[in-house]
Amino acid sequence: MNEKPMPVLGMMSGTSADGIDVALARISGAPPNLNAKLLGHTSVKFPGAVRKEIFRVAEQHPVTAGALSQLNFRLGEVFAEAAIAACRKFRIAPKKIALIGSHGQTIFHQGKTVNFLGRPTASTLQTGEPAIIPAPTSITTVGDFRPADIALGGQGAPLVPYVDYLLYRHPKFGRVSLNLGGIANITILPRATKPQQVFAFDTGPANMLIDALVSRFTRGRRRFDENARLASQGRSLPVLLDDLLRDPYLQLAPPKSTGREYYGHAYVKKILALGRRHRAGPNDLIRAATLFTALSVVDALNRFVLPKTQIHQLIVSGGGAHNPLILAQLSAALPGVEVLPSSRLGVPEDAKEAYAFALLAYETFHQRPANLPSATGAGGPAILGKISYAPPS
Ligand SMILES: Nc1ncnc2c1ncn2[C@@H]1O[C@H](COP(=O)(O)OP(=O)(O)O)[C@@H](O)[C@H]1O
Ligand SMILES: [Mg+2]
Repeated sequence: MNEKPMPVLGMMSGTSADGIDVALARISGAPPNLNAKLLGHTSVKFPGAVRKEIFRVAEQHPVTAGALSQLNFRLGEVFAEAAIAACRKFRIAPKKIALIGSHGQTIFHQGKTVNFLGRPTASTLQTGEPAIIPAPTSITTVGDFRPADIALGGQGAPLVPYVDYLLYRHPKFGRVSLNLGGIANITILPRATKPQQVFAFDTGPANMLIDALVSRFTRGRRRFDENARLASQGRSLPVLLDDLLRDPYLQLAPPKSTGREYYGHAYVKKILALGRRHRAGPNDLIRAATLFTALSVVDALNRFVLPKTQIHQLIVSGGGAHNPLILAQLSAALPGVEVLPSSRLGVPEDAKEAYAFALLAYETFHQRPANLPSATGAGGPAILGKISYAPPS
């Protein structure tokens, strides 16, 4: 394989909308012998007003077509600026970057079809217009990864399992890759798995409920429970936790996905009411939400994974991997499974998803499919995304 390695930037903002993660990868070859090395990663915060608008729109508050169009372009600029800032940090000239993969910011996702204007329709909308990224950066950009999978009858998500397969499949170990973003999702990679055996689904909330409670109890002064400081000061309330664990979403059979539509504002109100009933203080509730996050992952594994497949390792990424209470609870509740932060396997927790979109863009650039029909439900392989070319120099 003497193809020249390509420097590729991947950019991602998940349901937490805490900012844009940017990863720089050097990639060469083609699956199954794809060579990828993560060279650096950084993260760029959203301006406060932009973040507020993302939450408002993503919680499905009324928005005009004009405001949506403006938000899409405004976010496109923020993503382009994040790419340029990342290059500066990595000390690489943007001209040297061959490609960007920009996931954008999801503001709506309806993966399963529902009746719309007389026809079953699924759709997804990622904002942060990718077509305006090449001009300021002079880098060809792949964006809008999800629609091509939906066009083949898939749910357009999850897309990271393809990358989990490339990075984490193992001849002797059964592995689960867990990402703790706003929502928690798992990819199951049985021992010596073939691509068709990989499956994946959202297990429930990750940081979304914790962040919402912290932000409410501190009146916006804090956005998250850094290192589980507040949760550690709370009391354990097993009865309240049992109530939370009766969440019907946990019982739904996979494939399934969820988001801010379900674990958003209305759900938080439900937890606050439960808290009043159980006389829980703020830190008790933050603790309950944290334990609920870990135990809903454990519940999914016990219910849908471990009876079918032996799992040796759980590889954890995303911001929630920095929460010591979540990790401790996962380890305690999963005897026989080694719980490993993804950095132990060479991918820093905060870089994982951005790195994944660099790899997905590389595959698209080479006209190769990168959805896993077993994970998305698509009828077949799809080449993901839309390519916007850099202006000719
Ligand atoms: N040190 C930490 N302690 C506890 N939680 C953390 C820590 N660092 C990050 N987080 C959590 O991770 C979240 C961001 O995770 P991220 O993977 O970026 O999610 P998303 O993909 O949804 O944007 C934050 O909102 C916060 O809740
Ligand atoms: Mg994030």
